[in-house]
Amino acid sequence: MTDKNSNFRPIAWIDGKVHLIDQTRLPSEEAWLVLETYSEVVIAIKNMQIRGAPAIGIAGAYAVALAGGRITHESRESFLKELAEIASTIEDARPTAVNLSWAVQRMIRVSHRTAHLSDMVENLVAEAINIHDEDEKANIQMSALGANLIPPGSTVLTHCNAGALATGGYGTALGVIRTAWARGNLKHVFATETRPWFQGSRLTAWELMKEGIDATVISDSSVGQIMQEKKITRILVGADRITANGDVANKIGTYNIAVLAKEHDIPLYVAAPTSTIDLSLESGGSVTLEERSPNEITHFAEVPITAPGIRALNRSFDITPNKFVTAIITEKGVVNQPYKSSLRKIMELSNE
Ligand code: MRU
Repeated sequence: MTDKNSNFRPIAWIDGKVHLIDQTRLPSEEAWLVLETYSEVVIAIKNMQIRGAPAIGIAGAYAVALAGGRITHESRESFLKELAEIASTIEDARPTAVNLSWAVQRMIRVSHRTAHLSDMVENLVAEAINIHDEDEKANIQMSALGANLIPPGSTVLTHCNAGALATGGYGTALGVIRTAWARGNLKHVFATETRPWFQGSRLTAWELMKEGIDATVISDSSVGQIMQEKKITRILVGADRITANGDVANKIGTYNIAVLAKEHDIPLYVAAPTSTIDLSLESGGSVTLEERSPNEITHFAEVPITAPGIRALNRSFDITPNKFVTAIITEKGVVNQPYKSSLRKIMELSNE
């Protein structure tokens, strides 16, 4: 079951250009950027004009397609060499979400499978569009599976933005929320504001209001008290990378919520496509956690909000150890502990 706004996509390939909604300007303005080069896409990813693990993977794939269209080479070999160099620049745009390198590497594999230089651009564009379409489809599938875990009368807390804006469309954690709402099982949603970028109060709130879902924004630091008041019955978050043992890298603050959820006996579900699962890393300790500019903490809309001279540490992601994760919802199924074997099984399924 889907709902009225299920077809919103934050990014599109139109006439050989990448169109994306500028997420730094939401909710005050719905402005679309039109990008013609891979470097413009890399800048948009770094500046968070497009953000969210699956969405930056899709943007990365389109960036490779844009690059392919501009390389002028006589030989297939020199084309492949230049494309691979550009691909590694695209992959480096942000370090934590594995979806970016997953998508870029998929594009590189297609370039290697293409025998004739004349077919290269067409094949790259087709693969980027496939990556995009598959992501949206995966979200709709995982949302239907995840909504089975939301009983009637539930009140859900979500963190950051794991909605249509963060993906190819529909959303992961917010997709589950959408479907649960459409089924009539959701009473209320609490969205944390998610400092310092306010993905919760700007973006999740924007999506929830567009859909007419009953929701309240809360400050990040009030999560414990709200749980204590027994206002929350389920937690749904997305992920940027899930390691082989089920540890979850996600927006900073997810770990705090998970520890509090355990204390209050509230199930915490992570919704993510299999493209977010990275079996090459054994545990969360090996994930590179992005650290962003201190200015994002020390300034608000360019106005200083801390004492001059103070240092600020702006860790953008954290690791939630698998023991705090009740289940991981993917498009292939819902998996539980022990994650080492259940994740391996689900990944074998997705390679079939
Ligand atoms: O820094 P962001 O906004 O890219 O971080 C996004 C998140 O942490 C999301 O929870 C995650 O990417 C999942 S999005 C479906």
